[in-house]
Amino acid sequence: TQTALDVAKVAGNIGAEISGVDLAADLSAGTIAEIRAALLEHKVVFFRGQDLDQAAHERFARRFGTPTTAHPTIPALEGSPAVLDLDYGRTAGRANHWHTDVTFVRHPPLGSILRAVTIPPYGGDTVWANTAAAYTNLPAELRELADRLWAVHSNSYDYAAYKPSDDTDAARRQREVFTSTAYETEHPVVRVHPETGERSLVLGGFVRRFTGWSGDDSRDLFRLLQSHVTELENTVRWRWAPGDVAFWDNRATQHYAVADYGTLPRRVQRITLAGDAPVGVDG
Ligand code: SIN
Repeated sequence: TQTALDVAKVAGNIGAEISGVDLAADLSAGTIAEIRAALLEHKVVFFRGQDLDQAAHERFARRFGTPTTAHPTIPALEGSPAVLDLDYGRTAGRANHWHTDVTFVRHPPLGSILRAVTIPPYGGDTVWANTAAAYTNLPAELRELADRLWAVHSNSYDYAAYKPSDDTDAARRQREVFTSTAYETEHPVVRVHPETGERSLVLGGFVRRFTGWSGDDSRDLFRLLQSHVTELENTVRWRWAPGDVAFWDNRATQHYAVADYGTLPRRVQRITLAGDAPVGVDG
C-alpha cells in the first residue's frame, strides 16, 4: 500500500525532514519510491526518532542500492562489513572539512545513510550544501569555465593534512589508515546527475588540483568555486538526536561535520551506496 509521507523542508535550498515512517519496518515499494523522490528533490532527507540496529540500517540501505565496503581504506565495524563506525575521538578523526564522500575513487558513492548513535549534549551538528544549486547560481562565465574543467581528487589530501585542532591519537591513527593506500582519480568539475539530469559541481576536500593548472591557480579557482558551494543560503544544518537518520545524495551535495564538542563522545554509523563514475556535460 502506498502511504503519502510527510515531507517538510528544513531550509530554503536543501534538506527536508520526512516523518510518519518507521525505517525498521518492511517498507512498501511505493514508500521507497517516495523517499527516493524526496532525496532527489531535497538532496538530503532526515528522519527523527528511528530505532535502527546495524542489520536494519543495512536492510533499509539495500532498498536504494548496493552498499559498498565501509570505506576504501578504513576498516568496517566488526561483523558489519558495510558499516563505517565513526566514533569520534576513539576510532575516528573528525570530518570537519567540506567534502563529498570518497570522490578520490573512479566510482564515488551514490549516497550515504548516517545513523546517530551517541550525540553530545551540545554541538556536533552536520551541515550539507547543495552542489547543484551552487552550479546554477554561478555567473555564466564561471559556469562555462567549470563545464570544461577536470580535477584530480586524492585521499592523500586534507584528511591527511595536519590539523592542530584534531591531534588526538584517534585522529593520528585515522590519518595513517586513511592514507594507507593512495588513490588518485580525475573527475569532471561539473557532472550531470544520472537520475535528475541536473548539473552540479564536483569539488570538496579531496580535490588536489585542476587538470593542466598550476597548484597556485588551482587553489585560487578552487576557493572561488567552493565559496559558491558553501554559501550559508545554500546549506542546511542538522541538530542531531540519537536515533536520527540522514540520507544524502552524494552526487549533489557536500557536507561538513562541525567539531565544536571538545572531547565529548559522538558516534555515528554510515552505510555508503555504490555509485557511477561522474559524467561531464559532454557525455
Ligand atoms: C561524514 O563525513 O560522512 C560523517 C558526517 C558526520 O559525522 O556527521
